[in-house]
Amino acid sequence: MSTPHEGSTPQHAAQGSTNTSQGASGTDVLVQLKDVNKHFGDLHVLKDINLDVHKGEVLVVIGPSGSGKSTLCRTINRLEPIDTGTITLDSQPLPEEGRPLARLRADVGMVFQSFNLFAHKTILDNVTLGPIKVRKMKSADARKRAMELLERVGVANQAEKIPAQLSGGQQQRVAIARALAMQPKVILFDEPTSALDPEMVNEVLDVMVSLAKEGMTMVVVTHEMGFARKAADRVVFMADGQIVEQASPEEFFDNPQSDRAKDFLGKILSH
Ligand SMILES: Nc1ncnc2c1ncn2[C@@H]1O[C@H](COP(=O)(O)OP(=O)(O)OP(=O)(O)O)[C@@H](O)[C@H]1O
Ligand SMILES: [Mg+2]
Repeated sequence: MSTPHEGSTPQHAAQGSTNTSQGASGTDVLVQLKDVNKHFGDLHVLKDINLDVHKGEVLVVIGPSGSGKSTLCRTINRLEPIDTGTITLDSQPLPEEGRPLARLRADVGMVFQSFNLFAHKTILDNVTLGPIKVRKMKSADARKRAMELLERVGVANQAEKIPAQLSGGQQQRVAIARALAMQPKVILFDEPTSALDPEMVNEVLDVMVSLAKEGMTMVVVTHEMGFARKAADRVVFMADGQIVEQASPEEFFDNPQSDRAKDFLGKILSH
């Protein structure tokens, strides 16, 4: 079985299984947001966001609808520009355009709620396209690697099909394989299971838990508390464009501090 770090830099390989110790050390910052503000017209959607994501860390972002979780993710791979503040990846400010921006998008993988696979391309082509076009990988190498990744997420037998022939859970696992194929430094997941039928949620979460265990740096917007408890190093609670609280999953879920977090958890727990 291959891992997402196979063939990547020694730095990546060194992430290993030291999730929490690196996260707690405070030295190994991969993504840093400093005083980030973002408006949509008059709407102030991100308010003075300060956040470090450490190498190998799994950060779960949780909060009410409209609180800015998706916007936060989208700023990290510059799908949304910010108004003020700075965002760095590996200490470098995010590039604004051209090739460096394409490289950033390759370094910062993204898995969305709706799988965003190319509808008319095969599963295999969906996974090889980025590595061939952006990473300039040889076609044969890209295919070999893609098959390993599809194997890993349990859909290698679907490689020649098109997305519509797969279940939602299978498509989402392909989307994860596609992100991994780029050998990203971090993967952002924006509610990756919320469009899935309930019986398919776990097959996707299982893949994510195994990535987390292997030391992939992950920012995950999700209300799946089982996942957060199992895999998160830290939970960030957002409301009204602000980070209201951050804590370990145990602390956050068992003993939320702010009224807004208590209120929010009360609502999702009473479902
Ligand atoms: N492109 C846009 N143009 C204008 N307003 C936007 C845009 N994208 C998001 N917004 C607004 O910004 C706010 C934050 O949206 P965002 O999608 O980040 O919230 P969210 O926390 O991800 O919510 P949800 O849980 O519903 O996905 C919302 O009020 C939303 O309506
Ligand atoms: Mg959202």
